[in-house]
Amino acid sequence: MLGIIRIKRFMEKEIDILNRIIKRRRSIFPISYTSQEIPVEVIRQILESANYAPTHKLTEPWRFVVFRNEGKWKLGEQLARLYKENTPAASFLQKKYDSITEKVRQSSCVIVINAQLNPDKLPAWEEIAALGCAVQNMALTAEALSVGAYWSSPEMISDLGDFLQLGENEKCFGLFYMGYHNEEARPAKRTPIENKVRWVEA
Ligand SMILES: Cc1cc2nc3c(=O)[nH]c(=O)nc-3n(C[C@H](O)[C@H](O)[C@H](O)COP(=O)(O)O)c2cc1C
Repeated sequence: MLGIIRIKRFMEKEIDILNRIIKRRRSIFPISYTSQEIPVEVIRQILESANYAPTHKLTEPWRFVVFRNEGKWKLGEQLARLYKENTPAASFLQKKYDSITEKVRQSSCVIVINAQLNPDKLPAWEEIAALGCAVQNMALTAEALSVGAYWSSPEMISDLGDFLQLGENEKCFGLFYMGYHNEEARPAKRTPIENKVRWVEA
């Protein structure tokens, strides 16, 4: 009996911690990042958590490219160049162009999020869903380590293939900006879960 109570208490603690991290995680944007570098071991810890995402047929489709230091500048320049090249002159915004490199500059590191699709084994949506689970693991781990992060999906990501040297059936699905920050915790904007659930019990 005492053992069960102890286990229950331990479990309650775990659920409290998990709930707190899940609910406290917010997208934190580069403008709020400080200049403090994220140590490589911390980045590795965040990446490691991605590897525990569920994966149908164990294809482990998540692939990442970490851009830091000089590498980060190359990514920023490439994104800005792609924006300029692919935007008609009439809709080109210098402010947006400048903000692309600025966001990369403000970040301690940018992780490019890719998926290795396996069309002979699984439909693409299953691999992309697994990738989403992996990125959520990263976001929660970042939150637990006081690292700010957000998933960005600008149009340019579909043209990054050559720059990233992506292999066959490997596709880019976004950029994960990361940096330490001093932002106040802010509540999530969500409508109640009850609005999105139907229960069938009879
Ligand atoms: C797949 C995916 C792509 C996203 N792309 C962008 C983006 O391009 N720009 C952006 O500002 N936020 C992007 N976000 C972050 C959402 O804006 C953010 O999650 C949402 O506003 C809810 O805020 P929260 O993350 O703080 O709860 C993306 C999120 C996901 C899951």
